[in-house]
Amino acid sequence: MGVPSIVKDIGLADVGKREVDWAYRFMPVFHVLYEEYGGSNRLEGVRIAACLHVTKETAVFIRLLHIMGAEVSLAASNPLSTQDSVAAYLASEGINVYAFRGESEAEYFEMLNNALDIEPNIVIDDGGDLHSLIHSKRRDVLPNIYGGTEETTTGVIRLKAMERDGVLRYPVIAVNDTPTKRLFDNKYGTGQSALDGLMRATSVLVAGKNVVVAGYGHVGKGVALRARGLGAKVIVTEVDPVKAIEAHLDGFTVMKMDRAVEIGDIFITCTGMKDVIDRRHLERIRDGAILANAGHFNVEINVAALRDMAVEVRKVREHVEEYRLGDGRRVYLVGEGRLVNLVAGEGHPPDIMMNSFANQFFSILYILDNRDGLTPKVYDVPKEVDELVARYTLRGWGIEIDELTPEQKKYMESWML
Ligand SMILES: NC(=O)c1ccc[n+]([C@@H]2O[C@H](COP(=O)([O-])OP(=O)(O)OC[C@H]3O[C@@H](n4cnc5c(N)ncnc54)[C@H](O)[C@@H]3O)[C@@H](O)[C@H]2O)c1
Repeated sequence: MGVPSIVKDIGLADVGKREVDWAYRFMPVFHVLYEEYGGSNRLEGVRIAACLHVTKETAVFIRLLHIMGAEVSLAASNPLSTQDSVAAYLASEGINVYAFRGESEAEYFEMLNNALDIEPNIVIDDGGDLHSLIHSKRRDVLPNIYGGTEETTTGVIRLKAMERDGVLRYPVIAVNDTPTKRLFDNKYGTGQSALDGLMRATSVLVAGKNVVVAGYGHVGKGVALRARGLGAKVIVTEVDPVKAIEAHLDGFTVMKMDRAVEIGDIFITCTGMKDVIDRRHLERIRDGAILANAGHFNVEINVAALRDMAVEVRKVREHVEEYRLGDGRRVYLVGEGRLVNLVAGEGHPPDIMMNSFANQFFSILYILDNRDGLTPKVYDVPKEVDELVARYTLRGWGIEIDELTPEQKKYMESWML
């Protein structure tokens, strides 16, 4: 029913299939889900529009929805994150794919609009752009929507703002916030993949460098941990006093960004906040500083100010631009200030994404099974789903854990002396 797929080169489908098969190997939870649900036709007649990074891991999830009978449309959640071979493979399987690496801003929104043309019942989003588009310019698709899900922190913040303002029109499950997503994907996924992206892009040595991590939330913790593991001297900047203490007690140097710019070699923003590296910081930043962002949107580094201050901008490597400032200092921007792990790397490892997407999968089933009882608000992933995903993961990794004995359960529930 949707408009024909738009991908860079459908001839890349075979390469994409190999990539997706490789990811699948490391996603044992999906082995179970394919086996248990793959032949079930449980999603027959259900239309699902998804806005996700089009990576090999995403494909493992989307392909399952397709196999189960859903009509699926997929657009990229970032103009630079699409793996074109994967997009080609999914399109060759009959999924409506609207994504290619290097979309312009206008093309990006055109693709989201295309994805909505299937008139979805379920909306899966990463960052909130698709939910926001539906509530503003595409209200025509609202009547068919049972509910949606949201993959990342920034998207959940936007949806909670919509709920607060009384404009949210369908229930949304905040997949991001559930422990088996946020504790693993945001921390260990971004921790590894952001450093991987940075190293692929720049090829510089991390050991011995002053690496400034802005934000000590889930993402920042993972990035700081992995930068330290590579031998960096890690500096953390924060605005939350509790997180700042946590970073300090974890052994990191905590200071204001105003000071960090004087000593930092590499900067990685992980806040979800705008202008964390602003004009006033750029005015004093060290010559040769490398700037990268791991937060969802390209707002954390004030790229417009950097461009404005530069007397010359040139591409020096595939994902690195050199900004020469008036006084001769040079600043290197990685991946245009967009998600470094997806622009310059391949995103999170499959072993991590299986948790996130298993939560997405069960959240979709939950919406379908409970849609009459759900109202337009932001819901947590049901606790039993989180625990199920954790148990599947442990099983997949061959890890056994203890169980409480009946006496221990009783002890936990007792209040008497
Ligand atoms: N790159 C990826 O693949 C990926 C994966 C998951 C999440 N994300 C995105 O990363 C961002 C952070 O997510 P999170 O889960 O860590 O959120 P979080 O809320 O756990 O952490 C954000 C932290 O940034 C701090 N902060 C806010 N403004 C700041 C400022 N001006 N200076 C310093 N610190 C500041 C906050 O106090 C908070 O501790 C979000 O945009 C999220 O969507 C990206």
